[in-house]
Amino acid sequence: MKTALITGVSGQDGSYLAELLLDKGYDVHGLVRRTSVDRKEHIEHLLDRECFHIHYGDMMDPLGLVDVIHSIEPDEIYNLAAQSHVAVSFSVPEYTAQTDALGTLRILEAVRILGLEKRCRIYQASTSELFGKVEEVPQSERTPFHPYSPYAVAKQYGYWIVREYREAYGMFACNGILFNHESERRGESFVTRKITLAAGRIACGLQEKLYLGNLDSRRDWGYAKDYVECMWLMLQQNEPDDFVIATGVQHTVREFTQLAFHCNGIELDWQGSGQDEKGIDRASGKVLVEVSPAFYRPTDVVDLLGDPTKAKTKLGWNPQHTTYERLVELMAVHDRKLAERERILLKQG
Ligand code: GDD
Repeated sequence: MKTALITGVSGQDGSYLAELLLDKGYDVHGLVRRTSVDRKEHIEHLLDRECFHIHYGDMMDPLGLVDVIHSIEPDEIYNLAAQSHVAVSFSVPEYTAQTDALGTLRILEAVRILGLEKRCRIYQASTSELFGKVEEVPQSERTPFHPYSPYAVAKQYGYWIVREYREAYGMFACNGILFNHESERRGESFVTRKITLAAGRIACGLQEKLYLGNLDSRRDWGYAKDYVECMWLMLQQNEPDDFVIATGVQHTVREFTQLAFHCNGIELDWQGSGQDEKGIDRASGKVLVEVSPAFYRPTDVVDLLGDPTKAKTKLGWNPQHTTYERLVELMAVHDRKLAERERILLKQG
């Protein structure tokens, strides 16, 4: 039986990965940050499983990380813990650097200090944000980086320190350069989930309007459940390597919004441009979507499109397993049900 440690296990990716590894017969250990509000809703259903174990720890606490890794001696570590919100990284740049950059170093150093460098394989959650102010479209493993936020700069350190430990100490450490990946478990302030939640609530009469930032931003959105499979595949190869994980299909924030509302029976027409653009309900003429500069970023990454050829050929992964249309539908249907439940509860008082 293999043993895995997942940092950030209570998040979207961590919870899907834990399910996948448990199904494969792993003993799964998850690292959770201790906070005053216990947020374990994504892993609640796993807590009773015999092979699933929770450890409290923090990417800011190197000794605690050494202690956890020492007690588990994992065969595989998936480093998913991070301050992962790009917009938030402009408000807390130093904290973002501590967790996303130095946190990665702390994991690598813990493994090295404990003498596990030949036994323990490491997956690092790198990101398409490394391409930032993109130098070419689509982006592949050979595209130069141009990080464009404090988050991306911190992740750039994480990417290179993984490569450095691979080359300096012969560690089996891989970067998964994942493009945006979404799901019913996506955090509520990321744009896709914000949209599907709002579309459901507006359709149920629980919310008047949705305020968004840059509607022209283009993303390559995939399904998180498909992407965690790649994390595992990367660590099963003969040699450590870095991979772009993406669908190869791109849409704007506006298009995502249009489709999410369509899934709720609302057709939007768009009028105006820039800050004055509005999404109007074709049936009622009501303005349902507006732009608010509060959601603009000091520098915004606007043209992400991945080339998943290497993952397809070397990992045998299917980037189109869940299409963009299916992804939006899955999220919209899920969040419509949440809104309907909320409406019933409100009626019951
Ligand atoms: N969050 C948010 N909220 N984004 C908005 C909004 C809004 O109201 N309106 C427009 N956007 C635009 C952002 O400006 C950005 O260009 C795009 O929508 C996507 O934003 P997010 O969903 O917040 O994701 P992200 O691309 O910045 O970062 C996510 O994906 C990365 C992978 O490329 C995060 O999950 C990162 O941790 C991850 O590395």
